Amino acid sequence: MPKRVYIETFGCQMNEVDSARMISLLESADYRQANSIAEADLVLLNTCSIREKADQKIRSALGELRRWKSGRKGRLVAVGGCLAQQQGARLAEKAPHVDIVFGTHNIARLPDLVRRAENAIPSMEIDFSGDTSHWDAPPYIPSGASSAMVTIMQGCDNFCAYCIVPYVRGREISRPSGEILDEVRSLADRGVSEVILLGQNVNSYGRKEGEITFPALLRRIARVPGIPRIRFVTSHPRDLDRETIDLFGDMEALCPHIHLPVQSGSDRILAAMGRGYTRKDYLEKISALRRGRPGMAFSSDFIVGFPGETESDFEETLSVMEEVRYDSAFSFKFSPRPGTRAASFAGAVPTEAAGSRLRRLQSLQDEHTRERLAACIGREMDVLVEGPSARDASQLCGRTSCHKFVNFYPEKTRTGSLRTVAIRSAGAHTLSGAEGAPRG
Ligand code: 5AD
Ligand code: SF4
Repeated sequence: MPKRVYIETFGCQMNEVDSARMISLLESADYRQANSIAEADLVLLNTCSIREKADQKIRSALGELRRWKSGRKGRLVAVGGCLAQQQGARLAEKAPHVDIVFGTHNIARLPDLVRRAENAIPSMEIDFSGDTSHWDAPPYIPSGASSAMVTIMQGCDNFCAYCIVPYVRGREISRPSGEILDEVRSLADRGVSEVILLGQNVNSYGRKEGEITFPALLRRIARVPGIPRIRFVTSHPRDLDRETIDLFGDMEALCPHIHLPVQSGSDRILAAMGRGYTRKDYLEKISALRRGRPGMAFSSDFIVGFPGETESDFEETLSVMEEVRYDSAFSFKFSPRPGTRAASFAGAVPTEAAGSRLRRLQSLQDEHTRERLAACIGREMDVLVEGPSARDASQLCGRTSCHKFVNFYPEKTRTGSLRTVAIRSAGAHTLSGAEGAPRG
């Protein structure tokens, strides 16, 4: 009988797709996915270390696993991902119930490490080997999935002053375009309609390897039959070039939404962060995208309370938010990460001041999110169905091409994953509607 693995994923989409790959890899060690920790023989935490909060969550999950492991002989605990990469030795020391610690470049080794652990041999493999052989394992996707993530690169060379990513994921490595295209074709064959291309900095795809450029990759993917929707994440505003901006106007399959993290609206803070663009550069790119593709949706990441941020710097961030009027945004209090430059910058912003800035920023964004959602009422929008709605089994849910989440009443005679929905109402975060009667 196959054994069962339960994977808990923390952090970003990179980790999500890595977890999906780990499931495929573990099939070779005779493991299938468990639906809960209770039925698992192996629990794997795929960890994140982007902010301090993530660290804390993982520590508490590890504490619970100590009890779980002592409940039955032979249960195994593995820890992978960014925190494992950063704190491997310390983790193994502080949590002796962990059998396997493996880093972001050691994913392909997982089946071997699990076999060793089954024979009571613990492992810790966290060397930055530059190994990308895990890319060969197709990420597990549930049957009937309409959307799938495709890794196009790993790592980051930017070393933004606050960011731990280059230290835990290593230098940028791009995946050969032939492999990416093969994966996209096989997803199309499985009935997937949307691919989300993943990388820490997708706009610099292929530069180091002399591969085709990112816009050239997009054009090739758009030629794969059966993929009506293409998205990508994450873009660095400095590296988003004219050619890619123009593609939003020319390429129907490229969804009219971009996640373009600005981080701050103050040039002084952007320079201290080492972002390589000014507020003006950023806003010009937003305008060019809007001109090329009217109705384009935007989302962003913000950091408040970066060392040295004054009230007036923060107000400039609010004013960028006002100017762009993002459809959605993620915002965070600066969290000093060990080993990054910003961790030793002077001018720490007191926690209360940073907290109050975060609340102001988030309440402004809430207004904009509501406004952008309300603007959809009365329109017909194409929705890619993800499955039944969590709040009402008679409804389906999915996303518009501009990435808004919709719950809707389907037309009973209709099938297929792309549906045209009349939007009737908008809430704080989602849209609601109904599918029109079949036309023609
Ligand atoms: N503190 C707070 N936020 C951070 N981010 C990255 N590093 C930090 C940090 N040290 C945020 C950035 C990034 C997002 C993924 O996480 O906004 O875009
Ligand atoms: Fe971190 Fe900057 Fe790289 Fe993004 S671009 S992963 S913020 S170093």
